[in-house]
Amino acid sequence: MHTLSRRHLLGLAGALLAARPLAAETLPKVHVIKDANCPCCEDWIGHIRDAGFPVSFENMDAGALADLKASLGLQPTQVSCHTAQVEGYVIEGHVPADDIKRLLAERLDAIGLAVPGMPYGSPGMGPETEREAFDVLLIAKDGTASTFSSYPAAG
Ligand code: CU
Ligand code: CU
Repeated sequence: MHTLSRRHLLGLAGALLAARPLAAETLPKVHVIKDANCPCCEDWIGHIRDAGFPVSFENMDAGALADLKASLGLQPTQVSCHTAQVEGYVIEGHVPADDIKRLLAERLDAIGLAVPGMPYGSPGMGPETEREAFDVLLIAKDGTASTFSSYPAAG
């Protein structure tokens, strides 16, 4: 009797979970590795949180962070300040949350996404109304980059 009711409850919980829409709280955790003295990294974390992603982070000194980027398969021309990881993908720099959501939805076979450098007006890098044009790159497993999305200059 006890076992039956427990099973029933578990089944009910499973049904409830399955019926849940892909709401903000079901987004996977983004883990951010950054320099301790990087305010724009903090601002990007705020952008990702606002978009509904749970976020964790760790600080790493510049040398170790550069080594990590290389070990993850990023080319020197593709790097930015912070490096994030979500569901096995690398997210390098000030990548907009919507691009991360699209990557997760499309499940592309790739290392991940990168916004090289730190374009002004990208998320965490100043006002969108003063944005300079930038591209989000899709980094393939062989290290080559292609354009994933393009953001035109503001105004
Ligand atoms: Cu930055
Ligand atoms: Cu950063």
